[in-house]
Amino acid sequence: MKNPYDCLRPLFFRLDAERAHHLTVCALKTGMVPMPKTVSHPALEVSLWDRKFPNPVGLAAGFDKNAAVIAPMMKMGFGFVEVGTVTPKPQHGNPRPRIFRDVDNEAVINRMGFPNDGLNRFKENLQRFLDKKPRPAGILGINIGMNKTQTEPAKDYRLLVQQLAPLADYITVNISSPNTPGLRDLQKRAPLMDLLAQIHDERTKACKIAPPPLLVKFAPDLDEAQQGELVGALLDSKAADGIILTNTTLDRPDYLDPDFAAEKGGLSGAPLRDKSTAVIRSFYRLTKGKIPIIGLGGISSGADAYDKIKAGATLVQLYSALVFKGPSVIEQINTELVDLLQKDGLAHISNAVGMDVKKEK
Ligand SMILES: Cc1cc2nc3c(=O)[nH]c(=O)nc-3n(C[C@H](O)[C@H](O)[C@H](O)COP(=O)(O)O)c2cc1C
Repeated sequence: MKNPYDCLRPLFFRLDAERAHHLTVCALKTGMVPMPKTVSHPALEVSLWDRKFPNPVGLAAGFDKNAAVIAPMMKMGFGFVEVGTVTPKPQHGNPRPRIFRDVDNEAVINRMGFPNDGLNRFKENLQRFLDKKPRPAGILGINIGMNKTQTEPAKDYRLLVQQLAPLADYITVNISSPNTPGLRDLQKRAPLMDLLAQIHDERTKACKIAPPPLLVKFAPDLDEAQQGELVGALLDSKAADGIILTNTTLDRPDYLDPDFAAEKGGLSGAPLRDKSTAVIRSFYRLTKGKIPIIGLGGISSGADAYDKIKAGATLVQLYSALVFKGPSVIEQINTELVDLLQKDGLAHISNAVGMDVKKEK
């Protein structure tokens, strides 16, 4: 049967990208979107941080900023869904248009600037999901950030951890979006260690039993020295349980359409693929595999996901591929992953983690 998204795709690409996204979220809320087949296979189930991920393919932050469609995204077949970035106060973000697509190169540039409805609305939506009985299978990550007007970042992160850590399966500290002035400056040893210590302290206070793991999301635009500095900070602070690699890039490869490339913001999708894989490989080497990595950037096939896993990622995520390929991409990636494992004679996805780096020795 024809993939239902193939019929909608031309219509979506005629619309402004943000409008298309808004319509998608509205449709998902109605529950009337046809869902692709989901893949369930023992070789793909991942146990990590005392949690069971039904499969290693997750939805990346940014798609569901207000935690409004968690259940439908889990039913779509994602093993985990990361909602946010949420900030304490609602904010509009940058002026529109602020999302741009290069269909030929399967690339997106966005300069959203964390538009979201704020913590209160986010919590209401989250509670509605958590009250669902039975709760759909899947792990829930919450991605937190600071308001544009905040001059003391730790204040916002502390508040969000205090309010949201008890509701999350994991928390992501986003310090790598390129569209909030000053945010990426936190990707340095001293500010990162200070921020993590404060967040860790807040999480301990908020969750006396079974606190959710803390993950930090980094940009791909870090040279080797910067990567080494950050890994040193993570290992010394002992406050981070995981790393998410990567956010969008400021790079603009030559082959992109010049008008598209001229748009300010972070680039994602296919042109980010190899760069983010290289960053994952480098972090895996530097950490000696001691801190689990969620890998993302341009994943749109099982082979793309497998490359990131072999470079050191335990789990993967995607966003842009959903725009270009539609929901069936999740089933496709999981099915292809099972085939790739079989081809390599591996019984379980965890056996492939960091395989390429281990071979280097
Ligand atoms: C429109 C858009 C909005 C995004 N918003 C966020 C966000 O709010 N927080 C965040 O951590 N990452 C955000 N991202 C980055 C993605 O989570 C992901 O790191 C990046 O797009 C690379 O993955 P991809 O190539 O599969 O899209 C956004 C990406 C896009 C395209």
